[in-house]
Amino acid sequence: MPEAAELYNAMNPWSGRADDRFYLDLVLGAESVLDVGCGTGTLLAKAREAGHTGRLVGFDPDASMLAQAPAGLDLVHGDLSTLHWDNEFDLAVMTGHAFQCLLTDADVLTTLRGVRAALKPGGRFVFETRNPVAREWEQWPLGGFEFPWEGEQVRVFYEVQPIVGDVVDLVENIVAAGWQRADAGRLRFLSAERLASLAAEAGLDVVDQYGTWDRKPFETDSAEIISVLAARPARGR
Ligand SMILES: C[S@@+](CC[C@H](N)C(=O)[O-])C[C@H]1O[C@@H](n2cnc3c(N)ncnc32)[C@H](O)[C@@H]1O
Repeated sequence: MPEAAELYNAMNPWSGRADDRFYLDLVLGAESVLDVGCGTGTLLAKAREAGHTGRLVGFDPDASMLAQAPAGLDLVHGDLSTLHWDNEFDLAVMTGHAFQCLLTDADVLTTLRGVRAALKPGGRFVFETRNPVAREWEQWPLGGFEFPWEGEQVRVFYEVQPIVGDVVDLVENIVAAGWQRADAGRLRFLSAERLASLAAEAGLDVVDQYGTWDRKPFETDSAEIISVLAARPARGR
């Protein structure tokens, strides 16, 4: 049976979808970029392919995801409880709803503070998180999808528990002809207001918030909260 990380790229192929284009354009427009929770490194690899010649660094706490990345990228194992960059990047991004893996206020603050330290003055942190108001997780058990893997169609479907606080527990079932995986996961659905207040606590200000990948303003019931945060200048910088 394959590991979950071995299936990730086939399950989440780069598609040139609106979110892929949104982040790739941002990365191509920045000289130095930190990809927070870079997973299998696809965004940075696409930026290199598209001609980015500046500094591109990614990190992820899941070594099995990093192991699936193409060779030649600058990828580091860990998270911002241990890794540290100081005043080095014009842009930080956190894509693929990776921000929702931060389950507690302490995790969120550690990450936001680490990103703030890593950004140069004027730098931006851009990421998305699903809006709890849209209650998207309630739709997941009704659907499912298939993807091709090693010559066969593999099926994915979700079992989802009712939300407790702002955390949703789920099981991702991946079913092939000769094997089946059931991976438990947890995702936090932070409200736009709580997000802004945690950002402020970490020294970051919300400078833009979109509800769609074509940059329409965030509305109360938007599916996504796509946030652009700016680091407040630190004393002594
Ligand atoms: C759904 S994947 C997204 C990966 C990649 N950003 C993408 O768009 O394909 C979520 C990623 O967040 C990572 N992650 C979990 N906790 C994290 C943390 N505290 N800091 C950074 N990344 C984290 C996971 O290991 C995983 O690779």
